[in-house]
Amino acid sequence: MTEIGKDITRAKQLLEAGELVGIPTETVYGLAGNAFDPEAVAKIFSTKNRPSFDPLIVHSGSIEQISQYTEEMIPELEELAQQFWPGPLTLLLPKKKVIPDLVTSGLEQVAVRIPSHPLTKELLLSLDFPVAAPSANPFGYISPTQASHVQDQLESKIPYILDGGSCEIGLESTIVGVEQGQLIIYRLGGVEVGAIKKVVGNVLILPQSSSNPKSPGMLKSHYAPRIPFELGDLDQLVPHYLAKGEKFGILSFNKSFDQISPEDQYVLSEKGDFREAAKNLFAAMRYLDRRDVSVILSEELPEKGLGKAINDRLRRASAK
Ligand code: TXA
Ligand code: MG
Repeated sequence: MTEIGKDITRAKQLLEAGELVGIPTETVYGLAGNAFDPEAVAKIFSTKNRPSFDPLIVHSGSIEQISQYTEEMIPELEELAQQFWPGPLTLLLPKKKVIPDLVTSGLEQVAVRIPSHPLTKELLLSLDFPVAAPSANPFGYISPTQASHVQDQLESKIPYILDGGSCEIGLESTIVGVEQGQLIIYRLGGVEVGAIKKVVGNVLILPQSSSNPKSPGMLKSHYAPRIPFELGDLDQLVPHYLAKGEKFGILSFNKSFDQISPEDQYVLSEKGDFREAAKNLFAAMRYLDRRDVSVILSEELPEKGLGKAINDRLRRASAK
């Protein structure tokens, strides 16, 4: 059985010994291993059942630590780092040799982030190497936002999970890079597009629904529950499924439905708050995925602010 606790020293010792540890961040829980140690990195891929063409994000406690393993900061990205680190932002920077090719799936750039969760920040600052950490879920399944989610999913495959409570943001980091002077958002996430534009002006959002070779982790069927997940207008879907006589679950933004039992529905935010909805999203999907229903019906949020990133995850969950 994997142990869960708040012992930073234990997490540090395990990581130093080449073991993997579940770590809390403000976005989602990560499955962490020494990013300088190819064997630890290989263990991350095998534990998650992750294909080796899907690169990992490397986490550090400070910009100084990051400069050990990246070339000089790209000026456009420096402003974003100043503004949003520590926080839910990942930047693509040219890597030094000390980062094994396995971490970046052979790419020249490494994805880096300084998370803001206090336990993990303290852990990272105490280490003399960065940690590679993908979300701590089996490949293709819903990202974990509580220590118990990691325990449920990875069973006894890792010795320790550092328990930092529920993730404050609940969506993965926003990934930003630069190509030929053009700033690009590769993955929508916890930092809103509008907030990034305020700092750097124009930024291109890479089409999020396609799988593209630049950001291979953006496969469509990511974040998928096991039960079929259907996205549409709930006011039409609910009567349709009631008429069919099928047992279904509902994942709604802010309203509940009288026609089905409260246990089979999850309202992301009664007051229609995007932050609250983001924080609840993955736990809600996970909850409904355990109900005895044959389909989960859901709806998109207004396409603005964090709604964009939430809709991206909902669309991926419903992609076949
Ligand atoms: O919030 C987060 O970013 C969480 C926490 C744990 O920090 N981590 C996370 O990692 O979401 P993961 O492995 O689930 O997603 C990493 C994605 C890859 O699938 C890929 O799309 C992109 O980051 N990525 C990583 N390295 C890259 C690189 N060198 N170039 C382009 N994209 C990269
Ligand atoms: Mg992931």
